[in-house]
Amino acid sequence: MRRMVISRPQPKQLQFLKAKTKHIGFGGARGGGKSWSVRTKAKVMAVRYAGIRILIVRRTYPELMNNHIQILRKELAGFARYNDKDKVLRFDNGSTISFTYCAKDGDLDRLQGVEYDVIFLDEATQLSEFQMKSIVACLRGVNHFPKRIYYTCNPGGQGHAYIKRIFIDRRYEQGEKPEEYSFIQSLVTDNQVLLKSQPDYIQQLQALPPKLRKAWLEGDWNVFEGQFFEEFADRPEQYGERSWTHVIEPFDIDPAWSIYRSFDWGYHRPFSCGWWAVDREGVVYRILELYGCTQTPNEGVKWTPPKVFAEIHRIETEHPWLKGKKIIGIADPAIWDAETGESIADVADRHQVFFQKGDNKRIPGWMQMHYRLAFDQNGFPMMYIFSNCKAFIRTIPLLQYDVQKPEDLDTTGEDHVADEARYFLMSRPIAPRQAPAEDPYITDPRRLFLDIEQKDLTTTARRPKMEVITK
Ligand SMILES: Nc1ncnc2c1ncn2[C@@H]1O[C@H](COP(=O)(O)OP(=O)(O)OP(=O)(O)O)[C@@H](O)[C@H]1O
Ligand SMILES: [Mg+2]
Repeated sequence: MRRMVISRPQPKQLQFLKAKTKHIGFGGARGGGKSWSVRTKAKVMAVRYAGIRILIVRRTYPELMNNHIQILRKELAGFARYNDKDKVLRFDNGSTISFTYCAKDGDLDRLQGVEYDVIFLDEATQLSEFQMKSIVACLRGVNHFPKRIYYTCNPGGQGHAYIKRIFIDRRYEQGEKPEEYSFIQSLVTDNQVLLKSQPDYIQQLQALPPKLRKAWLEGDWNVFEGQFFEEFADRPEQYGERSWTHVIEPFDIDPAWSIYRSFDWGYHRPFSCGWWAVDREGVVYRILELYGCTQTPNEGVKWTPPKVFAEIHRIETEHPWLKGKKIIGIADPAIWDAETGESIADVADRHQVFFQKGDNKRIPGWMQMHYRLAFDQNGFPMMYIFSNCKAFIRTIPLLQYDVQKPEDLDTTGEDHVADEARYFLMSRPIAPRQAPAEDPYITDPRRLFLDIEQKDLTTTARRPKMEVITK
C-alpha cells in the first residue's frame, strides 16, 4: 500500500482540516498557512473518498500555477496524473482535483453545468460576491460525499464586504443558515513553520503602512474605512500634547538646498504643480504649489496649458526661493502623449518649463509617501509641508482606501496633489525607517524638554538642535 506523507498541521490548520460546516472561512491575515491547508485538505479528501470531485479556485492562472498546480503535481507524483488541457489531477481511485481561475465574470462560463463536491476558493476576497456565489452554485451532486466550500481570505479585495458579513460580522440574509458557517482565524504568528524558515517575514508585514499592517498582520477587518494617509498630521493639536506635525510655517530656504518641481496634468480635472526643497539630510519640504482646474471657466480662471506654464515660468523667475535656481522638473509620463498634435510637455517646453518623466508605479509611490510621512522616535518625519501649500493640506486627508485594492487609494477622490507628490518622491526613494516607539508620548521631546517652545519643535530649521539634545 502506498502511503501519502503530509507534514504536520499546525494547531489552526488542524482546526481547518477538521471543520465540518458547509461554509468554512480560514485565515484573515497574510502568511497564516492558508494555501498549504487548501492543498493538504484537497489531497487528503481525494485519497479518503474514492470518486470525489474537488475544485480549487484562484483569481488568476499564474497564481493558480504557482500556489497549487506545480506544488501538487510534484507532491502527488505516483498518486495522480495531471492533464494540462483540462487542468485536472486524476487519482487512481477516480477522485479528481480540478483547477480554475476567475479573473473576470466571463471566466465563469467554463464552470457551466459542472458539479463539484468540495470547492476551495483560495484568496476568496479577491473574487467578487457574484463570482463567489456563481462558483458555489456548482456545489452539488447526488452522492454521499461531504459538500463543502472553503474560503481562505485576507482583509481587502473586491469580496471584502461579503466575506466580512458572512464570517466576521455573521449577519445572515434570508436563505443563509448561520449554523452552516464557521471561521477559523489564522495569523502569521500561527504559522511557526514560516516564521522559523523566514524570520524576517514578520518585519516585512510590520513595515507596511499602519492600516495595511493592522489588516494583514493583525487580521483586522475594519480598517479600510477611511483616510489613506491617516498618519498625515496637519495640526500639532491633533496628537494632544504632542507637537508632531507635517505642516510647518514657511522659512527662508537655504540657497544650497536643491529644488524640484513636480507636475500632474488634469485633462478634465485639476492640475497640480508642487515645488520642493531638499535639505542636506535628504528631508523634503513642499514649499510652494500651484493648483487649479482646467475645465471650469465659471470659477473665473480657466487654466489652459499655455496659461499654466506661463504662470509656472513667472513664479520660477520671480519668487525669491526659486529665482535663478536650477529646478529639476518631474511629471506624469502621460503629459508626453500627443493625441492632438502638441503634447502638454511640448507646451511646457515652449515656456521653458522642462520635465523628466516620473516613475508612475502607484503602490511603490504610495509606500514612499508613507515612509516619508512616518515620524521617527523624536517626532521628525522625512517630509514637511509649508502651511501655504493649501491644496496638499486640504486634499491629502480626504483620500480614501480603495477597499478592492487595499494598497491603493480610491481614485475617485481628488488625488492630483498626491499623484504629483508621488512622482517627485519616486525620484528620490528612501527605505522605511524604524517604526515609532510603542508609546511615542514617552519620547515626546516636549515632555522631556519643557523649556522648548512649540514653534521650536514645528520649525524644522531647529531640527539639528533637537537631535543633539535628544541623544
Ligand atoms: N503545516 C505546515 N507544514 C509545513 N510547511 C507549512 C505548513 N503550513 C504552512 N507551511 C509553509 O509556510 C509557508 C506559508 O504558508 P501558506 O503559503 O500556506 O500561507 P498563506 O496564508 O497562503 O500566505 P499568503 O497570505 O501569503 O497567501 C509556505 O511555504 C507553506 O508551505
Ligand atoms: Mg496563500
